Amino acid sequence: SYASVVDVLTGKHPVGTTVTVRGWVRTRRDSKAGISFINLHDGSCFDALQAVVANTLSNYSSEVQKLTTGCAVAITGEVAASQGQGQSFELQASDLQVYGWVEDPDTYPMAPKRHSMEYLREYAHLRPRTNITGAVMRVRNCLAQAVHRFFHEHGYLWVSTPIITASDCEGAGEMFRVSTLDLMNLPHKDDGSIDFSQDFFGKEAYLTVSGQLNAETYACALSKVYTFGPTFRAENSNTSRHLSEFWMVEPEVAFADLDQVAGLAEAMLKYVFKAVMEERADDLAFFNQRIDNTVLERLQKMVSSDFVHMDYTDAIDILQNCGEQFEYPVSWGVDLQSEHERYLAEKHVGGPVILKNYPRDIKAFYMRQNDDGKTVAAMDVLAPGIGEIIGGSAREERLDVLDKRLDEMQLPKAEYQWYRDLRRYGTVPHAGFGLGFERLVAYVTGVQNIRDVIPFPRTPKNASY
Ligand code: 4AD
Ligand code: MG
Repeated sequence: SYASVVDVLTGKHPVGTTVTVRGWVRTRRDSKAGISFINLHDGSCFDALQAVVANTLSNYSSEVQKLTTGCAVAITGEVAASQGQGQSFELQASDLQVYGWVEDPDTYPMAPKRHSMEYLREYAHLRPRTNITGAVMRVRNCLAQAVHRFFHEHGYLWVSTPIITASDCEGAGEMFRVSTLDLMNLPHKDDGSIDFSQDFFGKEAYLTVSGQLNAETYACALSKVYTFGPTFRAENSNTSRHLSEFWMVEPEVAFADLDQVAGLAEAMLKYVFKAVMEERADDLAFFNQRIDNTVLERLQKMVSSDFVHMDYTDAIDILQNCGEQFEYPVSWGVDLQSEHERYLAEKHVGGPVILKNYPRDIKAFYMRQNDDGKTVAAMDVLAPGIGEIIGGSAREERLDVLDKRLDEMQLPKAEYQWYRDLRRYGTVPHAGFGLGFERLVAYVTGVQNIRDVIPFPRTPKNASY
């Protein structure tokens, strides 16, 4: 029967049973005694499975000894207790079939050595074969499953919000336009070039920057919902924490205030951190050893301590009086830069911090105004090493206050009619947040650049396959 590497290594197939494992060769080592040791990986866990192949196999010299890194094979053999260090089981091969050879092994881009992340990015189609990308993707998957499980267990409905929309949730004007293009009959401009200015069947349409506004409509009927999908930002930011296309987790909760969703954010993060520590200990050990030796300690600390809450106003005070030289000066009213966020999380608190009550003028139109007339009930969760991973707020549920804000920001009321309706028909206080999923994966793995925690990163400089 076919078996995965993880099943063999964790003893699902008792010693003495014969199984066939399919995968890719990581390394081959030949001993003088006419035995080859092949390490086989199939993505099911961090470790590769060692297969011991003796020269009694009929294709030993014709094929086995020609195997190189990357070859695809099926190895049949008996499960045996391993003599080797660190592994409990291995395979005593009785048959080896080659699915695919690696042509020109000398130039195979994924040779089994340490490659730089920049180099691997050039090979987005081959990097899943490396230890590191495999580990990142298993952790990413584990986190995504845990997010869904957390919300499911807490009574939230997963609502799929649209990718194509006309509304600019964040009001930052950073949207990608969607056009209808008839490829058989491309419209041309006078100079003969293709006219890409056509819109979505005669209307304006863009790729969503956030599912929040749509999620609000469902929260104001189904009480507790979340959306988890791709979002798009046309900001020309070439940093290690910005992508043009990223995934966002956005819960929206009726009858909740800011502190309740701050509590929800903390509970959700702790839940997914616990899940990844339990389910992906193998990959985390690798990250801790290879990428960042504080990964395990950091996660442990996150789940076992309470998040610190701090007011924006107090944070400004701290930043102004800490004696640190920042590239961007701080004063009340400015938007915090990543250097400030990291100072607060890393140096001041030494852990995650929830910053609350930001100046109204640097925040989106939908945030609920506080009684001081200057601030809104907004929060950001700042994490050491990365800065903002979550942004959220209470939503303005009072129609008159919302309308005043729309006017002040010169946003067209007519286009927000549907959003205003929520405030006209049985309005309720509600709140929610958005977690940048790639920032979470980067935080958990210690991987420095967000481009390395999503399979095919889209940035201003890269949108090819
Ligand atoms: O702070 P943001 O812009 O908030 C919103 O979009 C709200 N509508 C969310 C809500 O309340 N439902 O984005 C939320 C999070 C950020 O904290 C950050 O982690 C991530 O999304 N994010 C990005 N991640 C990668 N690349 C980018 N360009 C990002 N922009 C935001
Ligand atoms: Mg934000």
